Amino acid sequence: MSTKPQIITTVAELRDQLDQARARGQRIGCVPTMGNLHQGHLDLVTRAAELTDRVVVSIFVNPMQFGPNEDYDAYPRTLSADTEALTGTGCSVVFAPTVREVYPKGVNTEIDIPSLSTILCGQHRPGHFKGVATVVNKLLNIVRPDVAVFGNKDYQQLQVINTMVADLLMPVEIVGHDTTREPSGLAMSSRNAYLSESERHTAALLYQGLTEIASALRTDTGVAASVRAVEARLKGAGFALDYLEIRNADDLTQSSLNATRAVVLVAARLGRARLIDNLVVTLKKSPD
Ligand code: PAF
Repeated sequence: MSTKPQIITTVAELRDQLDQARARGQRIGCVPTMGNLHQGHLDLVTRAAELTDRVVVSIFVNPMQFGPNEDYDAYPRTLSADTEALTGTGCSVVFAPTVREVYPKGVNTEIDIPSLSTILCGQHRPGHFKGVATVVNKLLNIVRPDVAVFGNKDYQQLQVINTMVADLLMPVEIVGHDTTREPSGLAMSSRNAYLSESERHTAALLYQGLTEIASALRTDTGVAASVRAVEARLKGAGFALDYLEIRNADDLTQSSLNATRAVVLVAARLGRARLIDNLVVTLKKSPD
């Protein structure tokens, strides 16, 4: 019989339970989320359960990563449906703290990686990645997992987290997991809920565009023309583009010198939704 995860809301109770699990020799996995779970999240949990013995899924809508005009208040809070969805996925504990539990003294210490947090999404969402890095640092300090799993869909977020973990010598393995897509190619996201039926149809153009640019990159033919054509098609279909860019996949710099992997990244607004997606491309190495 599949068991429903236990819901824990305090740091003290979670730490106590995880200390006992560690004492029994269990490896701890963590999947940080903001809830409103979809299949993409559940796939991260399945991966964490393959890698560890006890998986904690945190559900916390983090105020620090939302800008003043963003959707913090409107962000869907669906704890009981989320707990139901996690039943049978290998998640043992849902950690659902209050804002006070995570920020008992407000925000005093901030974690920032300016080289990553001010570009791409960071340029359009000032302060966002500072909020993400700070809360992920807190969650990893609370759970102290052996492994934490994040989606590759949030590519820049994953780079921020990897850099923080490496720079601060944090004892955790960060695992990036493939993006789960709708049959149309649309990347699964909690914010897809903001799309109307016809916008959802249009939203599939994002992945089609990325695929087209990725194939131009792979064959090194007409890359700039392909980016311009996709940009025009997306604008024509009603998207307001924040960016559509090709970057070095290892550090998100614009330098393609010596890059062996590139990433095509897009962020665009469609109706009420701001959607992001990306595709990593392994580049053909020129013969020495
Ligand atoms: O990707 C998310 O859902 C959030 O940014 C995260 C990593 C849970 C931090 O709040």
